[in-house]
Amino acid sequence: MELGLQGKRVLVTGASSGIGREAALAFAREGARVAITYNSRKDAADRVAAELTAADGEAFVVPMELSAPESIADAVGQTVERFGGLDVLVGNAVFWGGAFDDRPTRIEDAKPEQWLPILRANLEGNFHLVQQAAPALRNSDQGRIVLVSTDLAERGMTGSWAYGSAKAGLHGLAASLQHDLGQDGVLVNIVMPGITLENGTHRVIPAEALSQLSSRFTAGFPEAADVAATIVYLCSARTTATQAEIVRVNGGTARVA
Ligand SMILES: NC(=O)c1ccc[n+]([C@@H]2O[C@H](COP(=O)([O-])OP(=O)(O)OC[C@H]3O[C@@H](n4cnc5c(N)ncnc54)[C@H](OP(=O)(O)O)[C@@H]3O)[C@@H](O)[C@H]2O)c1
Repeated sequence: MELGLQGKRVLVTGASSGIGREAALAFAREGARVAITYNSRKDAADRVAAELTAADGEAFVVPMELSAPESIADAVGQTVERFGGLDVLVGNAVFWGGAFDDRPTRIEDAKPEQWLPILRANLEGNFHLVQQAAPALRNSDQGRIVLVSTDLAERGMTGSWAYGSAKAGLHGLAASLQHDLGQDGVLVNIVMPGITLENGTHRVIPAEALSQLSSRFTAGFPEAADVAATIVYLCSARTTATQAEIVRVNGGTARVA
């Protein structure tokens, strides 16, 4: 299927690893020009850039800090200047806010100093990102935004109040953006991964537990490349009327028995 991404100008945030890396690679394979952001691991981002170039794409690497609006403006500005515009924005970067199992499990123990940085980076950061990219996207003939959420925004997890709330906030952001950016032909959608594998493994969940857990889901857990493929499709010329949708790539529903 011709996806109409040849020469399109793409920015994927947080592409030094995981889903962002896979999305950047998938765009490059379609002939797109791809800018990627990293936060702390320039070496990893440079390795991804080398992979993009090897896949016949054009790569541009910029640093970005989600909780620093000026850094977001700089990353978007550099990308637009380098490419002479922007067609696709993928808001994928995430501030995890430390290990999940280090967090309080009772709401009475939740602290603003833990809540605020996660909200600021993952919700407000994406607001700034979209705001900075909007003028260039309006000028594109294939303007697309995908914001990457999590199924924890819907099903939750003990102690994940801030992360789940920040990601759920992105759903509201997309719903309102469609009324504005949609007038200029920009499609804004959410991709919602669940537990995501990389080459069949998970960074935290041990193999045996992962296999048991995954087998309960009707389609099994997705690979990062599966999530990336959905992102790329939503940004392609083949998608023209999917607007403000939440597209789940999470292995389906867990069987109850
Ligand atoms: N992996 C999963 O199982 C899963 C499940 C559900 C949803 N998701 C969502 O999918 C997206 C990608 O997840 P992933 O696991 O593939 O990510 P990841 O591999 O952990 O990569 C995170 C990316 O975000 C960057 N980053 C970290 N802190 C940042 C900050 N403060 N400001 C700007 N960038 C920052 C990292 O840069 P450096 O590495 O350079 O520091 C890296 O490029 C996220 O939005 C996540 O919420 C993932």
